[in-house]
Amino acid sequence: MALQAFRDELASTAAALAAPGTGLLAADESTGTIGKRFDAIGLENSEENRRAYRSLLATTEGLSEHISGVILFEETLFQDSTTEAGGGPIVELFKAQGIVPGIKVDQGVEPLAGGLEGESWCTGLKGLAERAARYYERGARFAKWRAVLQISSHGSPSELSVKENAWGLARYARTVQEQGLVPIVEPEILMDGEHDITTTAAVQEWVLRTTYEALAVNGVFLEGSLLKPSMTCAGAACPQQPTAEEVGEFTARTLMRTVPSAVPAILFLSGGLSEEDASLCLNAVNQAASGAPWHLGFSYGRALQHSCIKHWAGSDLKAGQAALMARARANGAASLGGYVAGSEPSDDSSLFVANYSY
Ligand code: 13P
Repeated sequence: MALQAFRDELASTAAALAAPGTGLLAADESTGTIGKRFDAIGLENSEENRRAYRSLLATTEGLSEHISGVILFEETLFQDSTTEAGGGPIVELFKAQGIVPGIKVDQGVEPLAGGLEGESWCTGLKGLAERAARYYERGARFAKWRAVLQISSHGSPSELSVKENAWGLARYARTVQEQGLVPIVEPEILMDGEHDITTTAAVQEWVLRTTYEALAVNGVFLEGSLLKPSMTCAGAACPQQPTAEEVGEFTARTLMRTVPSAVPAILFLSGGLSEEDASLCLNAVNQAASGAPWHLGFSYGRALQHSCIKHWAGSDLKAGQAALMARARANGAASLGGYVAGSEPSDDSSLFVANYSY
């Protein structure tokens, strides 16, 4: 019943997030994870520093040319900006720029009882409807839930982990749609491992097929939903690393085989790719999938913010914002298949972190 009332709004929110030449800024690092970023620049993980950093993001002029939506952590959704930024709610600064606010609603992963070593399930269903209603009230219009799967030489992912994570994503998606939030469905396949790209492709087809079956059983309204997958890459320790063109071709094939065309957009995570590689691979996906039914954009965390945090270094607002804009422009162009390699500054360090948690 409730979903029915939100159908038109869900479809128009999803369409706004799927605007050509744009993607999402995933700024929903948990307090622990943003602390690791701040450690790298020697900055204390205090509420004031988190406020200052997220205010920097929200006041970056021109960001909405390339960024249609921002994913926030709960603290940020309810946090006020710095006095330099006006002191009002951070979420209102994003909205004033025309950037749609979203919210991470999962509560992290836990070991999967009955699963193989290292396998997890994603928590956060209890009380989700009430939380989603509160987030909507505060201005959020979409949500994110990150389920994590691994490929390993000891047989992961198991059937149990594929089914459990698909089901959790579907229960979450249905629940938040009933409260007016567009669900981002994120079945991340970690880059950890030595497997080659064909192995990733086979596993990812299985994971996506299972996820869309679960979404169908739960009556999820696909036109009001978005997919956030990893690109079809080789494991980070695989000796045969594919080129960006190969990643583009495999990714396009995986998605064409599994994702319903009613889904308005597929917004990739960066998953540990360097800033430049994340742009090159997205560009290659768009070139390989020309004529695809969905918008193929980005929802990057590390690959949009790495240089930004480094250049900001806790105090240089303008340098941080310039670095963020550079990667936003690069990925905006890549989502149209028109990015020219090296045409925007980046930091070429690998952003891969083993067994990454967000
Ligand atoms: P990365 O782009 O850093 O992988 O993060 C995106 C994200 O939101 C993962 O849930």
